[in-house]
Amino acid sequence: MANPRIGDPALRSKVMSAEDAAALIAPGSTVGMSGFTGAGYPKAVPPALADRIEAAHAAGDPFTIKVWTGASTGPELDGALARAKGIEFRLPYNSDPVARELINSGEMEYFDIHLSEVAPMACEGFFGPLDTALIEVTAIREDGALVPSSSVGNNQTWLDLADQVIVEVNAWQNRGLEGMHDIYCCNVLPPHRQPIPIVKADDRIGSTTFHCDPAKIVAVVETDAPDRNAEFKKPDDKAHAIAGHLLDFLGNEVKQGRLPASLLPIQSGVGNIANAVLTGLIDSSFENMTAFTEVLQDGMLDLIDSGKLRVASSTAVSLSPSYAHRINDDIERYRDRIILRPEQISNHPELIRRLGCIAMNGMIEADIYGNVNSTHIMGSRMQNGIGGSGDFARNAWISIFMSPSTAKGGAISTIVPQVSHVDHIDQDVQVIVTEQGLADLRGHSPRQRARLIIERCAHPDFRPALEDYFERALHSSYGKHSPSLLSEALSWHQRFVETGTMKT
Ligand code: COA
Repeated sequence: MANPRIGDPALRSKVMSAEDAAALIAPGSTVGMSGFTGAGYPKAVPPALADRIEAAHAAGDPFTIKVWTGASTGPELDGALARAKGIEFRLPYNSDPVARELINSGEMEYFDIHLSEVAPMACEGFFGPLDTALIEVTAIREDGALVPSSSVGNNQTWLDLADQVIVEVNAWQNRGLEGMHDIYCCNVLPPHRQPIPIVKADDRIGSTTFHCDPAKIVAVVETDAPDRNAEFKKPDDKAHAIAGHLLDFLGNEVKQGRLPASLLPIQSGVGNIANAVLTGLIDSSFENMTAFTEVLQDGMLDLIDSGKLRVASSTAVSLSPSYAHRINDDIERYRDRIILRPEQISNHPELIRRLGCIAMNGMIEADIYGNVNSTHIMGSRMQNGIGGSGDFARNAWISIFMSPSTAKGGAISTIVPQVSHVDHIDQDVQVIVTEQGLADLRGHSPRQRARLIIERCAHPDFRPALEDYFERALHSSYGKHSPSLLSEALSWHQRFVETGTMKT
């Protein structure tokens, strides 16, 4: 029986197995894949391609590809291809553990880039040609339009740029997703760019489907496999404390008249702490909130259900299995409350600045002046990537970074004299929060910031060492504007490597 999800008869005739579709991808070629977090990535062709790559390697033939995605994906894509040693180059954000090891062992080239810049740079031609687009969709309509699935990412750009297109039609994705997407593509290069006409988080300016020249579609593969996102940990005491400090801060901003009672559109990063903050907002006094963000995770669904969040604009619905069931079982309830956009729109600096987003992101470490490291452990080991944190931090109304004050069971302070790698410069960081407290850095000089961060955010076990460092730096530093003892600041990190524990 014909698959009702494939309405276009011409494209129905291109249905084939994942193995046959994988055979259309040439060694050395570049593949633009769908996928943003564990949502909307192709789930059948990448594992079949990984098998083909392993077979080629077993026969002594080299076989690698270059992979472009929306952001992180799932184990069937990054995990399978990395395990097969099949990725020679990848961009952007990755959180797959197998790929992470290859990146850090130097076996995979990884280009970490602001998410807002991926599609524009691809269109500018910096990354070279795109041979294949491999895109998961919910359905192909009779008119050939492609109904997006649970993430949008860079899909329309990959469809526009690629020489050939492989479409995975995933029956697990809810058919009722149709209508949630707002596909506005600005693959236009300067000097022809126009203002993007979004002035509110819930403005819709594009179409609900992707468009692709049917002649470019060489294969359609039917799948029925779930998105894969891990369950969140129940927020621990530290996460609750961070959320508490943040909510008090936002409440005070409202009281001071610096934020409206409904706040400004919130952006929330990935992970357990961000999720705890969202959950905390349910019991807050803020009503009628909106979100303009790149990832919609469990806590945001709870906020929608609580009636506190009126609408959420994102590029992906990245939900743990129980929450994915909830949205799948009741899609009508969410269709008008969720808008999924291309990531060059969800993360667009023009829009983040115009809407005045409140950006809340995780960090690896911050230094006493407010520079933030989001990506590199010990200045050299890539954890995930910058993702959209830079897009939001630079352009937000208030840019907030949060983390527990210690890592590795208390052995390492996440507040340090000087970050081992800088992703967000002090000018882009307005607030730092740990479970110890919150430092509002706005309007403060570097020396004032240092005192605030040490006093409010550092763990008591590390505070004396940081105070001692700062006082000596004030005395002996070459310049007194941002006092620094360069070699000592970096040896702070080195002590961890040499001893396996951070000594104070
Ligand atoms: N020194 C050494 N290791 C550290 C560390 C530090 N200061 N801080 C964290 N780590 C380690 C943790 O121990 C953990 O290691 P493990 O996996 O071996 O246990 C790992 O780094 C991840 O830390 P965790 O606390 O689990 O991270 P998280 O889930 O809270 O995420 C970031 C924190 C920074 C990694 C994450 O927010 C991120 O990738 N940010 C960049 C992208 C982004 O902000 N996107 C925003 C838009 S979605």
